Amino acid sequence: MSFLTLTSIQKSFGPVQVVKDFNMSIEKGEFVSFLGPSGCGKTTVLRMIAGFETPSGGGITIDGKSQVNLRPNQRNIGMVFQAYALFPNMNVAENVAFGLKVAGRPKAEIDQRVKEMLGLIKLDHLADRYPYQMSGGQQQRVALARALAPKPQVLLLDEPLSALDAKIRVSLREEIRMIQQQLGITTVFVTHDQEEALSISDRIVVMNAGKADQIGKPADIYNRPATRFVANFVGTLNLIEAKVVDPATNRVSIGDQGVTLREPLGTVKAGDTVSLALRPEAGSTAPDAKGDTALTGEVISSNFLGSVIRTRMKVGDAVISFDMFNSPGLVPPAVGETSTLRFTAGDLLIIRD
Ligand SMILES: Nc1ncnc2c1ncn2[C@@H]1O[C@H](COP(=O)(O)OP(=O)(O)O)[C@@H](O)[C@H]1O
Ligand SMILES: [Mg+2]
Repeated sequence: MSFLTLTSIQKSFGPVQVVKDFNMSIEKGEFVSFLGPSGCGKTTVLRMIAGFETPSGGGITIDGKSQVNLRPNQRNIGMVFQAYALFPNMNVAENVAFGLKVAGRPKAEIDQRVKEMLGLIKLDHLADRYPYQMSGGQQQRVALARALAPKPQVLLLDEPLSALDAKIRVSLREEIRMIQQQLGITTVFVTHDQEEALSISDRIVVMNAGKADQIGKPADIYNRPATRFVANFVGTLNLIEAKVVDPATNRVSIGDQGVTLREPLGTVKAGDTVSLALRPEAGSTAPDAKGDTALTGEVISSNFLGSVIRTRMKVGDAVISFDMFNSPGLVPPAVGETSTLRFTAGDLLIIRD
């Protein structure tokens, strides 16, 4: 049985249902991210796991034990929030000791554990500092240590990095992942940042309007989005409308150019429209570009972004963006020029929702 299970969780505020039939099974030691836009219900699900909200329906178990009738302080959960929620009148050591003190642990044990935790987040030297004397990144590391000190069964992190600047965000997410793996603690990490979720998770739940659209490993979510919503939210994706030419041979047309798909079209008939997704990094117009498929069109923009050159090309009614890795010899196609984008037919995914 999974360690943390959410079964048909629902939550309504008045007449508005913000979490709809949410299901998730998380294994012991797993790091799972809830990824979705603002307002899709991520925090509400997290607060139900922690016991700050009561589900309108459904069940929550940790290690086989139902949590639904337990108050927050009866659950064994550590939580880190977006805003720095350290106690301003306590120094670092006192903040980290807080949960253990409340639990009535003996002083020697608390001192030992605080020392261990400060070592884990590499802030031993700042034990006497107060929150206002530390950077945002340092405060969030203390918040993490405070959450972990009482040895919770589950760690919940609600957008813990979103108030930090870009560089710190990247280094701290890697540190969180390292500490999580070192302790083997079951973790739910909430974020609206797809790169963050892709880079540190064992699995991702992509949330859309109160339900899980797709659950999978980062590469599966990125490479094989199950819905249009996931395709759009996780990365920049071209969504191309194509016309079915011959269902038997998986032949479609984009503009007036024919393409044979790898993936079976299924039950459609000639003349139907199908939606196809193509990742911008899947194709290239470089002279040595390879692929069994080509689309020719007019280049309408070309932007040098440093490591990649992002070009947009018009094919019939579709505008297709593609990224080529920069290299000193690469001459990007010029605006107004007719160019041919080559890629593998297998990179064209059928979106079926
Ligand atoms: N206590 C509340 N009362 C009424 N509506 C709420 C309450 N908490 C959250 N909501 C609403 O529920 C929806 C989901 O919110 P939330 O879980 O915070 O989303 P997220 O964390 O994904 O941004 C939002 O529309 C929000 O306004
Ligand atoms: Mg939130």
